[in-house]
Amino acid sequence: MNSFQITRLPELRFGAGGSSQLSQILQDRSLKNIALILGGRSFKQSPAYDRLIESLKKAHIRYTEFSVVGEPSPETVDSIVATLKAVKDQSRTEGVVAIGGGSVIDTGKAVAALYTMEGSVQEYLEGVGTRKPLGTRLPLIAIPTTSGTGAEATKNAVISRIGPSGFKKSLRHDNFVPDVAILDPELTISCPPEVTAASGLDAITQLLEAYTCTRANPFTDGLSLKALELAGKGFLTAYRDGRNLVARSQMAYAAYISGVCLAQAGLGVVHGIASPMGGLFPIPHGIVCGSLVVSATRFTVSRAMRMDDPSEDSVLKRYARAGMALSGKDAGSDNGNAALLIKTLERFSTETKMPLLRELGLKESDLSMIASKTEAKYHPIPLTVQDIETILKDRY
Ligand SMILES: [Fe+2]
Repeated sequence: MNSFQITRLPELRFGAGGSSQLSQILQDRSLKNIALILGGRSFKQSPAYDRLIESLKKAHIRYTEFSVVGEPSPETVDSIVATLKAVKDQSRTEGVVAIGGGSVIDTGKAVAALYTMEGSVQEYLEGVGTRKPLGTRLPLIAIPTTSGTGAEATKNAVISRIGPSGFKKSLRHDNFVPDVAILDPELTISCPPEVTAASGLDAITQLLEAYTCTRANPFTDGLSLKALELAGKGFLTAYRDGRNLVARSQMAYAAYISGVCLAQAGLGVVHGIASPMGGLFPIPHGIVCGSLVVSATRFTVSRAMRMDDPSEDSVLKRYARAGMALSGKDAGSDNGNAALLIKTLERFSTETKMPLLRELGLKESDLSMIASKTEAKYHPIPLTVQDIETILKDRY
């Protein structure tokens, strides 16, 4: 067994209607003045938003509201922090509450941290800046309204600048895991089908990659397999019928666990590709994952079948177990169950109309450049740049 380490997890409050606990949680922590980071329109137009604002007012909690559209840039984070820091004395911000998709929660994470730090967030990004965060931050509560990135359970905030010299890099520290994650499946009901599909496939990819990567450990193995089973049951139902609270609950839990597992284990080649691709092209992260998970899994499984490794924990056996969990079936052999995994992923991707890379505006000549910038150090099998290009071409 590999040595491993489990760092902090957020306090978890799970259950339909659970977001009504927010005011009480803030009061219990003596947080009377908060930054409220929200997403675009869907949550703000829901009755849940009105109820939330009403309960904050009733509890005499002051809030400064910000709306974030799209994945956060350094400027988005810096400008929110500058606004908050301009307020002096007793109105100073004491905590951050982020309610929205992964981008909103990542913004909240970065704002909570940068509020206690000097300079621009860009100076602290891995591979971009030269400064290291010390891990200080304001108290942080994350309430997801999509089921995907699991950002409510992770220690990094992804910050992007899109374009030829673009990047998609993380502000990361073990202490940046939110203090509390409130998973209220009712809040995900307003999430439209195409976002449900992309974010759900991101969660499934994260679970699969965390379970099969070289840093997988017994702690994350148990969590990720059960979450894959729930995602297998809930994914298409949540896509077809957004009001199905059982499916929404299954996906909310699966997404949260995908965040726990990626933070405590690691990820594979799909996320390795998503980093440079997301920096170069304005494609939402979930779409990149949803588009590539089938071709990456097909490639890796075909290699694993040729490895002829008889051990109980071979790469093929891991993909086979993931196939049984996600499909809810047993084909009776490792090869059969790994094939079931590919078939199930294909069904999910096809029914939800995940686009091909060419439909996302990529040129064939872009593929080698993306492959050369991809890092996949925890992927279960070693991959050359050529291999990654093959995965990309298969989806072009
Ligand atoms: Fe992801």
